[in-house]
Amino acid sequence: MSFKVTPLENVGAEISGLDIRTPLTEEARAELKSLWYEHAILLFRDQDVDPHRQIEFSRIFGPLEKHPLEVTRSHEFPELFVLQNGGERDALNTAYYHGEPIVGRLDWHMDLHYTGRPNHGALLRAVEVAGEGGLTGFGDLALAYDALDRESQDKIANLEVAYRFEMQRTKMRFVDLDGYQPGPMSPKKPADVGFPEFPDAVYPAVVEHPVTGAKVLEIVEQFLDRVIEPEKMGMAAAEADDLLQHLVEHVRKPEFHYFHEWRAGDMILWDNWRAMHCTTGTKPGVNRIINRTTIAGDVTLGRPLAA
Ligand SMILES: [Fe+2]
Repeated sequence: MSFKVTPLENVGAEISGLDIRTPLTEEARAELKSLWYEHAILLFRDQDVDPHRQIEFSRIFGPLEKHPLEVTRSHEFPELFVLQNGGERDALNTAYYHGEPIVGRLDWHMDLHYTGRPNHGALLRAVEVAGEGGLTGFGDLALAYDALDRESQDKIANLEVAYRFEMQRTKMRFVDLDGYQPGPMSPKKPADVGFPEFPDAVYPAVVEHPVTGAKVLEIVEQFLDRVIEPEKMGMAAAEADDLLQHLVEHVRKPEFHYFHEWRAGDMILWDNWRAMHCTTGTKPGVNRIINRTTIAGDVTLGRPLAA
């Protein structure tokens, strides 16, 4: 079987000619997996599937992970995680951006990056859409690495970078805080949302993709904190911060991004070892439901920094 592959804007590809309700041959499954590695971000439209089929389909790409938070897990389908806007958790996820309340906005990140062992990937399927807003952005960090000039590539070849888990966005060092105000119910510490304390996670600034070997620029603004031992790289701390700021600005360039405006039945699969993602959030009171399945990460890409 051969699918139709149409490039999305800048990065990723839309795959058509596939109805995931019908059984897929071994060959078709292998083709999908290699398309996933080739493009990192795959969009499938008009997929009218139930959670059971979504779970079966996701297994093509690797063993699935159950969500670590028992409370948000579906009892009938433990591999399914329901992301919902418009419910009682909205208050926790509301913050102000230039005076406007926004629910569920998230900076560029990779899932579970702060543990040193990110998920391999995830698949989102839109069940109910927001109408306006609620976009999900994806950024290809292999492309971002390739686009760096040779001098920058050499400079970061042996650099290590630390990520510090933080609940308060105002304490994240490299996110854009212009016009930002936390909401009255914004969590202050990990325990507020049932999370443990995490030690810092350290990554090489350039990670080799465990399957494809592609070089991935491991710079995501959420939780990014500092260069490890910059003096050993011949840099003062301030110079190391400037370098990180320069890299953050590099990966923010739209040419590495695809922003998806959801329609019901859309599915997006991404490779979390290569692509970062973010969410623009919605206005308060907007209902949205996205069913998520997660492909487990069986490789440790970073290391926890001993306290
Ligand atoms: Fe995420």
